[in-house]
Amino acid sequence: MAFNIHFDDTNLIAPRGVAGGVTLSEIQEQRARAEAAAPAFRKIFEAGRKAGFPRLPFEPVDEILGCAGELRGSYDTVCLAGIGGSALGAWALDCALRGPHPVQRAFSGEHPRLVVLDNVDPSFVGAAVRTMDPHRTVVVVATKQGSTAETLATFLILRDWMRRALGAEAGKRIAALTTQGKGDLDALARREGYRIFGIPADVGGRFSVLSAVGLLPAALIGIDIRKLLGGAAAMTSLCWEPDLDRNPALRSALLHWLLLERKKKSIQVVFPYSNRLWGTASWFRQLWAESLGKKLDRQGQEVYQGQTPVAALGVTDQHSQLQLYIEGPKDKVFTFWVVRDFPDPGPIPEVRLGLEAFDYLAGKSLAQLLDAERRSTEAALVEAGQPNCTFTLDRLDEEHLGAFMQLLEFHTAFMGELLDVDAFDQEGVELGKKFTYGLMGRPGYESYRERFEKYEKRRG
Ligand code: PA5
Repeated sequence: MAFNIHFDDTNLIAPRGVAGGVTLSEIQEQRARAEAAAPAFRKIFEAGRKAGFPRLPFEPVDEILGCAGELRGSYDTVCLAGIGGSALGAWALDCALRGPHPVQRAFSGEHPRLVVLDNVDPSFVGAAVRTMDPHRTVVVVATKQGSTAETLATFLILRDWMRRALGAEAGKRIAALTTQGKGDLDALARREGYRIFGIPADVGGRFSVLSAVGLLPAALIGIDIRKLLGGAAAMTSLCWEPDLDRNPALRSALLHWLLLERKKKSIQVVFPYSNRLWGTASWFRQLWAESLGKKLDRQGQEVYQGQTPVAALGVTDQHSQLQLYIEGPKDKVFTFWVVRDFPDPGPIPEVRLGLEAFDYLAGKSLAQLLDAERRSTEAALVEAGQPNCTFTLDRLDEEHLGAFMQLLEFHTAFMGELLDVDAFDQEGVELGKKFTYGLMGRPGYESYRERFEKYEKRRG
């Protein structure tokens, strides 16, 4: 395997790890239930209606690479209009492999940048557009349903901006990612001659990073998507293993399920000690929240399930959040994400200033300090009885990232199995969309407008 990802769960388990952790007998009691979750999820996947993400690493990508190759050199910016699952995956890939945000290297035709427009804050969209040149930009518009208001509104602005500069030629520099043959984006794309890439019907937005939704923007900014998929494919084989001791996604799901159900850890804090993994943390936050936050279980019973994901950045948030994490309510489980090797560890100059607060740092490295900070945080959490675990990636390259994101998707799917909720729908998100359509006057959504008006009346 071209990657090495290690899951350390010692600090989730009592008594050796952490006082309030899961006991070995609790794990033993639930082993069979967890080991049944892998084949049960496989059945759902094989039924083919939803949960198609395990197939993605094995899909051909020639069309995407062909498009990237054809356009290469003619642009310095890729502007992605999308939201939620149609934006966060691409941002995570860019942040990890081309970032880290907020610092980015200078961009050029050889090293294009990605601008993700995933909000309709007018000052944000306006400022972003002013930094781009329509002659040097490729626009990617991504919406699975083809109708999400935020994405289409932003796209109308981009389309107009491109057409004013390029006329009818603009269409050649626009790619639409959507459900093929369905929805108004597909219709417009056909009418105006955009490049169209389909989003598979059985792959939901938050699980779509390894479809064209993540891969096209990634390929356009020069990420090696074959390596990304190679890592994800190898992880997929591992994640089908029903053996708890060999399958890190399944093991982690069982432990998190026990912590939620038995120890009332209703919050999971994801704590990357890497600026490059910050985008992945935002992506994961959506994956965990939307997949598991459910009113009904699969039998239709009201359960109001879910575990609230929080993203914290190490070490930065040690100085903003850690006080709460150490001394606050014991309702959290912490997951550290660690990168072992930094290509440049950031040596600290070997200068002796005769000042004690400086001199002990001289000759060490920033990577060493980062590591010491994280290990100290782990130890402090254990002393405070707060369970935590660590995923360590040897390096942050395409193979590791592809494998890690795939692991997290399986982890989420298995957690859905254990909680007995449908991890692949999102009724709550859809309701929000319908209210917006109603309020903005989209035909067919009048009843949502009426519901909204009733709500306003009640408020007086
Ligand atoms: O995961 C999901 O399904 C959602 O978060 C969607 O990605 C998000 O609502 C955007 O939807 P669409 O791609 O249809 O515009």
